[in-house]
Amino acid sequence: MIKTVSPATSLQGTITPPPDKSISQRAAIFSLLHDGVSIIKNYSPAQDPQSALACVEQLGADVTQLDDVVSIKGTGRFRVRPMSDELDCGNSGTAMRLLAGVLVGAGTGVMLIGDPSLSARTMTRIINPLEKMGAHILARNSAYAPLFVTREDPLKPMDFELPIPSAQLKSCILLAGLFGETPTRVIEKVPSRDHTERLLNLNIEEKNGTRIISASQKDEIPNQSYTIPADFSAAAFWLVAGCIVPDSEIRLPGTGLNPTRNALLKILKQMGADITIENERMEGAEPVGDIIVRTSELRAISIEKNLIPNCIDELPIIAVAMTFAYGTSVISGAEELRHKETDRIMAIAKMLKAVGANFEEMEDGLVIRGNPEFEFKSGRFRSFHDHRIAMASAILSLKGSTNSQIEDAECAAVSYPSFWDDLEVLVNG
Ligand code: S3P
Repeated sequence: MIKTVSPATSLQGTITPPPDKSISQRAAIFSLLHDGVSIIKNYSPAQDPQSALACVEQLGADVTQLDDVVSIKGTGRFRVRPMSDELDCGNSGTAMRLLAGVLVGAGTGVMLIGDPSLSARTMTRIINPLEKMGAHILARNSAYAPLFVTREDPLKPMDFELPIPSAQLKSCILLAGLFGETPTRVIEKVPSRDHTERLLNLNIEEKNGTRIISASQKDEIPNQSYTIPADFSAAAFWLVAGCIVPDSEIRLPGTGLNPTRNALLKILKQMGADITIENERMEGAEPVGDIIVRTSELRAISIEKNLIPNCIDELPIIAVAMTFAYGTSVISGAEELRHKETDRIMAIAKMLKAVGANFEEMEDGLVIRGNPEFEFKSGRFRSFHDHRIAMASAILSLKGSTNSQIEDAECAAVSYPSFWDDLEVLVNG
């Protein structure tokens, strides 16, 4: 589908972003492992969480979904039994990597498959440590899905220092560790999103900024009955749109404010954004609040390397904010972006090039020379079938002087099925 986006003179209104994609998928997978019924409210209708839910059902959970309420009767950790030879993770790296950990722990042999984008993403980061834990994994070219995951040897709990700050890798190893007689300890030097530790209530030791998270059979898997917060990474598109489109005020109620996810708030505030937060509260184990953003004059920023994992999914839309911020902004230390749903450094560069922005692509990021007065006529954007690139291109399009087009725009539904409708609501004020 090619979507046409018209220039906007104002964005006004209240939008509830979709339920958090990362938390929804974890809620489904952890409910499978819980021995009992979890009732999850506000479960995400987006494609990735729905793929995770279908996989959990095929691993033996009893799943019913009525509107946004999902009830999952788990098998309990030691009764996970695949009902088919293949689990289809669709576009979801989180589903594939977390489920690989579960399968290794459970010691059951299954093939994990995904769509062409997921099948092009390296899995060596999980294959190597899982093999150290006793798994046997067959992968295409030793690195890519389909992955046949099995374990015949006894599970070997281990101490594992994360070589990259990846929450998917951390969660994968901890999930396998939950099946071990002795603890598996994951050592994390740069913080990545901590939903797994929070929702499983895992033991964490903290020493001089290093976190050691442990998991074993002794950890009870908590019931996963809670309300999923609105997705901060989806709210991010409106936070930037609200800053750069004139005469705007957008409210985003019930949005997740997990500190390992919300570096964009800190970044935008440092850039001069007019953002306020009201009604901060806890929703289960996760902090949430209502965010209000208004049109702002933005200044350039250089993002510190250590903050990158806490805004990794927001970098495409941050690049749009930087294009309209006064001065030279830098994103560096973000090579991980090249391994997302597409090579996002390349995709951002193509997006900025389509409007004639002043920037340079680097191996590990971008240098963007921005200007609040930057003008362009229109763009024809390739989304590369990547939901975040399609949505970032849409927000950029709002600043053109005539209509822009976004190719394969339906991919927004991977995380945000109502994105195009919500955009219309805000444009019509
Ligand atoms: C996710 C972690 C991040 C993020 C992805 C979702 C998760 O990936 O980019 O969209 O749910 O754990 P990495 O942990 O691989 O950086």
